[in-house]
Amino acid sequence: MERIRRRMQEVGSRREFLTGVAALGAVAAIPAPLRGLRIERTAPADSSGAGSLRAHAAARGLMYGTAVNPVLLDLEGATGGNSTDPYTRLVAEQANILVAENSMKWGALRPTADRFDFTQGDRLLRFAGIEGQLVRGHNLCWHQSVPAWLTRTASKDNAREILTHHIQVVAGHYRGKLHSWDVVNEAVHPSDGLPDGLRKTLWLDLIGPDYLELAFRTAAAADPEAKLTYNDYGIELDTPEDVKKREMVLGLLKRFKAKGVPIHAVGVQSHLDATGPQPGQGLKEFIREAARMDLEVYVTEMDVNTHAVVGSREAQDRAVAAVFGNYMRLALAEPNVPMTLTWGITSAHTWLNDANTDQRRRPDGTPERPLPFDDRMMPTPAFLAIGEAIDRSRPSRSGNA
Ligand code: G3I
Repeated sequence: MERIRRRMQEVGSRREFLTGVAALGAVAAIPAPLRGLRIERTAPADSSGAGSLRAHAAARGLMYGTAVNPVLLDLEGATGGNSTDPYTRLVAEQANILVAENSMKWGALRPTADRFDFTQGDRLLRFAGIEGQLVRGHNLCWHQSVPAWLTRTASKDNAREILTHHIQVVAGHYRGKLHSWDVVNEAVHPSDGLPDGLRKTLWLDLIGPDYLELAFRTAAAADPEAKLTYNDYGIELDTPEDVKKREMVLGLLKRFKAKGVPIHAVGVQSHLDATGPQPGQGLKEFIREAARMDLEVYVTEMDVNTHAVVGSREAQDRAVAAVFGNYMRLALAEPNVPMTLTWGITSAHTWLNDANTDQRRRPDGTPERPLPFDDRMMPTPAFLAIGEAIDRSRPSRSGNA
């Protein structure tokens, strides 16, 4: 953990700040709820070095990061941002925190009941070590990415033992090396109709509602220094569904606090839609309520789909940038929000364009552009919007505005 602390200080003390400000241009395709908001910059002179999101975040003492697939990283060539592989270079240059998109889930770590495969997770840790980045763990307990052997063999008699053992071994393996763990992912689902709002899952079915507490307590014992996080989606907007789910998540967090369950943060995934309603007062109040419970709030998986944006690539880009700008300004204005991660960093590597995921596709068949870089690894307008939101969020550590 001392290593992590040192790295956080290093991340925060880099005195780099941004240059170059201009105008993003026309707002024709910006979603209606966001029209009228000003976005102030256009094409960056440079998205690397002092212009990178990593430098913007570091200057404000914040974390910006991305989900990655460790297989794609050129570990052998990684030497402080200088790999010859453009994707590896981008990840090193832009992020001061990383999370494995899939490699630390049960499905990846547990090929069989008696085998743990840490190959890809360890690879990520080695890469982050070389590049001076923090790492989050995702996740220890979820209803998805559940191996077939588990579904076949778990029963009311052994589920508690299986869950405990998994968390002890996995969180134990990474003890002292991670910034934070998503201990339980997506456990609330009001439409399942249970009074406490819990999702009907294998864990709930076999262990009962105590499985959440069990997961957090086991994680705390296995890695006392990682910040333990409850992570969920569908809690961002002011729609009736999101309002209801937020209420249920807050209820869960309050029950945790009342029982002394070790929890330090709540992750708001933030998979947003460029054409739908946008986040507002409800999210702000949620973040403040978390602060009153002494919890940090992490934006853990942000991206913006353009499933329903009709028009040119540029129109999509403007819409995505407007959502990023609005959302990140709102979230980062709150002092207990120190971190934003995007779920991927380029449109070449996003679950929204992955044929293996069950995703709605754009009617014209063109790929989504939901992230700060495109498939050619060029910065999109969202890159500018993110940098600008970070800059506005709090004073620069160097004293520059
Ligand atoms: O790599 C295999 C391939 O070998 C295999 O042939 C193919 C056939 O199914 O699957 C491929 O794996 C897929 C993997 O993505 C990589 O493409 C899995 O099936 C697919 O289930 C997996 O989807 C991931 C999904 O979580 C489920 O674990 C997405 O990449 C990942 O982005 C997504 O991430 C989730 C967060 O964990 C939680 N919040 C929501 C977020 C988006 O759904």
